Amino acid sequence: MDKFIINGGAALKGEIEVSGAKNASLALLPATILAPGKSTLRNTPELNDVFTMIKLVNHMGAEVDFSDHILSIDTSNIKLQTAPYEHVKKMRASVYVLGPLLSRYGSAKVSLPGGCAWGPRPINLHLEGLKKMGADIDLVDGYIVAKAKRLNGVNIYFDIPSVGATGNILMASVLAKGTTVISNAAIEPEITNLGEFLIKMGAKIDGSGTNTLTIEGVDELHPAEVDTIPDRIEAGTLLIATAITSGKVKLTNIDKSLLQTVLLKLESAGCDIKINSNGLGLDAANLEINPTNISTAVFPGFPTDMQAQWTVFMSLANGTSSVRDTIYFDRFKHVPELVRLGADITVNENIAIIKGVKNLNGAKVMSTDLRASASLVLGGIAAKGNTEVLRVYHLDRGYQRIDEKLKHLGADIKRVAGDEF
Ligand code: EPU
Repeated sequence: MDKFIINGGAALKGEIEVSGAKNASLALLPATILAPGKSTLRNTPELNDVFTMIKLVNHMGAEVDFSDHILSIDTSNIKLQTAPYEHVKKMRASVYVLGPLLSRYGSAKVSLPGGCAWGPRPINLHLEGLKKMGADIDLVDGYIVAKAKRLNGVNIYFDIPSVGATGNILMASVLAKGTTVISNAAIEPEITNLGEFLIKMGAKIDGSGTNTLTIEGVDELHPAEVDTIPDRIEAGTLLIATAITSGKVKLTNIDKSLLQTVLLKLESAGCDIKINSNGLGLDAANLEINPTNISTAVFPGFPTDMQAQWTVFMSLANGTSSVRDTIYFDRFKHVPELVRLGADITVNENIAIIKGVKNLNGAKVMSTDLRASASLVLGGIAAKGNTEVLRVYHLDRGYQRIDEKLKHLGADIKRVAGDEF
């Protein structure tokens, strides 16, 4: 297991390109199952969750070619409609294959994802939606076994605008018989990117990008090409890396509309953001960090996937801030590790109260999940002295070589193979 050794304190400087969005790729890749033939996904990030999804479609019989961020997937010879536990246990997003498999082949056997590092993450909305569309669903030996001759278009209302359930039902509905209306759908940009791809494949979707999606099922789809949108969470993480080190960085391949609330909150915290046609610039050379409260919410609200990074940022503010996570109540595994770096944070239910300190100090800390690990790296590059971030495989799941990107911007960070854990 690799670890990072970081000598903190260097101000980040320079220009860096934002990679394609992990959570868009993880939806686009299974969508290729819906049509026989070769689809092309451009701007695909090279990170482990994408490699896991590639292995999963490979296992089913798809042929994959991936080079220079261009992913070609030929789904002509899919023979197995199964997602085994070995793949799903590595990544919950594997459940995205359920909708496409069921709708194209009439059957699917997908391992139940189980819990996650910060608590339960149910998929009841995915299963209830598919049942309403006429699927027979049984849970057998830890697997979802789903069957349907042809799914029917129905009206579905989500109690929670779940990203995954919206993606799964959207992919199921494009080949269903009749019209499906999804109300209270997720409007995260990654779902809109999925909708764009499905429309290119011949799907009839109205309301893409809004919380009501109307899908008129078609008899068949054809392969297509699409550009994966930029990763707004990687961009936000790099902006905080710049701010927390009093740096000056320009991000390219990112659009402000993907980051609205994060940019507003960065401005409230004292950051001067420059926006131009192909990117965002932040000059934080003289930044005094204002304490700034956030509460996570669905898009366009403050993303839960930026909550841990904001928490470490506020630990160096001139005063006290609060961070509330309304999407995942238990997503605070980073807090005890940040306290090891000298942060003053207490958590009560789903609210972290952060009293700003003058500086953080290097220590050995442990990654527990993707975004928690990102906050530890941010803590490390801002801290005085040496920080070791253990178990960085969590970071490698969701960021494309974040250590190299930070090094390119001047951080003193190195990857070392094999730690004691
Ligand atoms: N929920 C239910 N029932 C369901 C589905 C969700 O109760 O059937 C609840 C969840 O427990 C949670 C809320 O609804 O409280 C939102 O969950 P959602 O389904 O929207 O999340 P997801 O699809 O499992 C995606 C991202 C996550 C991101 C969330 C929220 C992917 C592959 N994952 O997960 O990304 O945190 O949306 O925006 O798109 C990450 O990248 O670090 C990450 C965890």
